[in-house]
Amino acid sequence: MLRFAITLFAVITSSTCQQYGCLEGDTHKANPSPEPNMHECTLYSESSCCYANFTEQLAHSPIIKVSNSYWNRCGQLSKSCEDFTKKIECFYRCSPHAARWIDPRYTAAIQSVPLCQSFCDDWYEACKDDSICAHNWLTDWERDESGENHCKSKCVPYSEMYANGTDMCQSMWGESFKVSESSCLCLQMNKKDMVAIKHLLSESSEESSSMSSSEEHACQKKLLKFEALQQEEGEERR
Ligand SMILES: *[C@@H]1O[C@H](CO)[C@@H](O)[C@H](O)[C@H]1NC(C)=O
Ligand SMILES: *[C@@H]1O[C@H](CO)[C@@H](O)[C@H](O)[C@H]1NC(C)=O
Repeated sequence: MLRFAITLFAVITSSTCQQYGCLEGDTHKANPSPEPNMHECTLYSESSCCYANFTEQLAHSPIIKVSNSYWNRCGQLSKSCEDFTKKIECFYRCSPHAARWIDPRYTAAIQSVPLCQSFCDDWYEACKDDSICAHNWLTDWERDESGENHCKSKCVPYSEMYANGTDMCQSMWGESFKVSESSCLCLQMNKKDMVAIKHLLSESSEESSSMSSSEEHACQKKLLKFEALQQEEGEERR
């Protein structure tokens, strides 16, 4: 029975990998593959859409620039805010599952990736005293000839730019993210995403907004198990 479950899981994972591949951004691979030497974004090292060398840019705090975007146009981000920004960058560049939410009009982009409310609230809390000048980081910049970003408007605190975590998550990267009504079928950019992803992938993208309550229930149950297991591992290590 266990062997059957493992085989089935292998079939499901390999078919979803083939189905989705990677996004078509400038740093993305065609298909995810292992990257054992990643400096950052190690959540995705078993199956990654970015090369390990991409993550070198994220390895030293303060992070000044990633690809051709400066992160410090309104001063250096605080360490806690930087950490959240890095999680989003890692997901977009490296997650083998990001393409599940590919924007059909623009295949380098994602749309409506479900984030957990708690993740957005924590992110907002971490950044609220940092400053930015772009409401939408994808579009609200002046780009020079080399494609580097410059402020178009004045720098203001995050807490002035966005009303709350929900507003921030749903505005900062355009349509890329939405806050989920579920506390389980949503991503928070840590190991628990494994549980959520498994359930989210079993739904077709059209139905994702009306996720069935049985899927929700199954997810919650798995998450509890997963948390118990993590706690056990933590205690063994002590
Ligand atoms: C990163 O590594 C990949 C594969 O090893 C290579 O194709 C690419 O050119 C490298 N990129 C940079 C910026 O070094
Ligand atoms: C968050 O801000 C939005 C936009 O201003 C508002 O509609 C929403 O009610 C706020 N949510 C909470 C929980 O305060």
